[in-house]
Amino acid sequence: MTRVLVLEGPNLNLLGTREPHIYGTETLDQIHAGIAARAAELGLEVDFFQSNHEGALIDRLHARDFDVAIVNAAGLTHTSVSLRDALTGIDRPFWEVHLSDPWQRDDFRKVNFLHDVAAASVVGQGARGYHVALEQIAERFGRRA
Ligand code: DQA
Repeated sequence: MTRVLVLEGPNLNLLGTREPHIYGTETLDQIHAGIAARAAELGLEVDFFQSNHEGALIDRLHARDFDVAIVNAAGLTHTSVSLRDALTGIDRPFWEVHLSDPWQRDDFRKVNFLHDVAAASVVGQGARGYHVALEQIAERFGRRA
């Protein structure tokens, strides 16, 4: 089976109460439950990791115990050369997901260290964006024994 790591960056643990007019009212646990259900339907194995710490996210990537990642790097998207280097250094494709559309927001969110090295980006679709990424991954990699 294709193993998918869903990597969640800083402050995403606050989803549900964090700026709900931008990010919606679902908690991260609820979003992950939806992802797990869709992954099971698609025949994908899925694992989740959230951290508010850049190094912890990088260490999780270095474990390389997955085939492909879905990455919502949150604010680190706009600041982190180190996270970009980890993602390009592990030889695993990744899908960039954002609940909101950073390109339509503050100018500082238009700086993006991940976009050009992502296999694809899904933005502005709320939690559905993770499902879109999963479906694209299932199409690209299919089920593996
Ligand atoms: C976000 C967008 C980022 O600009 C922001 O820093 C986040 C969340 C999103 O999912 O819309 O923390 O990644």
